[in-house]
Amino acid sequence: MTGNKMKCPPGVPAIEHYLARPRSASIMAQLDAIFFEASGTKTFASNEDRAAFRELWLGRYLAHDAQHAFLAVADAGLPSETLAGYLVGSIEDPAIATRFDDLEYFKALSHRTARYPAQLHVNLAPSWQGRGVGRALVEAFCQHLQVLSVPGVHLFTGRGMRNVRFYERAGFTEAGAVIWNGREIVMLVRDLT
Ligand SMILES: CC(C)(COP(=O)(O)OP(=O)(O)OC[C@H]1O[C@@H](n2cnc3c(N)ncnc32)[C@H](O)[C@@H]1OP(=O)(O)O)[C@@H](O)C(=O)NCCC(=O)NCCS
Repeated sequence: MTGNKMKCPPGVPAIEHYLARPRSASIMAQLDAIFFEASGTKTFASNEDRAAFRELWLGRYLAHDAQHAFLAVADAGLPSETLAGYLVGSIEDPAIATRFDDLEYFKALSHRTARYPAQLHVNLAPSWQGRGVGRALVEAFCQHLQVLSVPGVHLFTGRGMRNVRFYERAGFTEAGAVIWNGREIVMLVRDLT
């Protein structure tokens, strides 16, 4: 892990390693709230379905890859401490790591995941979007990956989604596309060498 905890004035989110700070019940509840708010899936047939959805896109990264997760925290250490957003990811090639076998699109683009093995998921609370916090989380993660000599990072998002422009500005380019669950998703990659 890199030790790049940033000192920020009150109100401005600090980018902190997930494992390097207190993870209070409030922070964890805010993390879940941001995840479900940002997700396209808002209703679930059962609590089990909701838990499985959380496990797919958030839980397993926090359980298995906590050393690669970052939080953006406003007023860190103050009573008004607020979670602005988070980034979770992993560094193993997901086309090879069996724990990602449930997402078949990794194997469909395995020639790309081999070159860009790290993956990320970043989400912000609505009130913090459009203020550069997402970019700061992505840069902290990429810096962390470079310290670990990871050659590249990728993510998947929906074709035509607004966030594609955010990733392009952060140095990502399209490297492939697949149809998944009836819609086209694009693979965006960033070289870290
Ligand atoms: C996408 C996201 C992480 C970007 O972080 P950010 O701090 O808001 O982005 P920045 O301020 O650094 O850059 C702004 C750009 O982000 C994108 N963006 C901003 N708000 C967004 C939103 N609600 N949804 C999607 N993209 C958004 C836009 O491309 C924007 O550029 P624009 O001002 O020209 O429209 C953040 O907006 C977010 O969490 N959005 C909702 C969930 C999401 O789409 N997560 C990514 C899943 S792959």
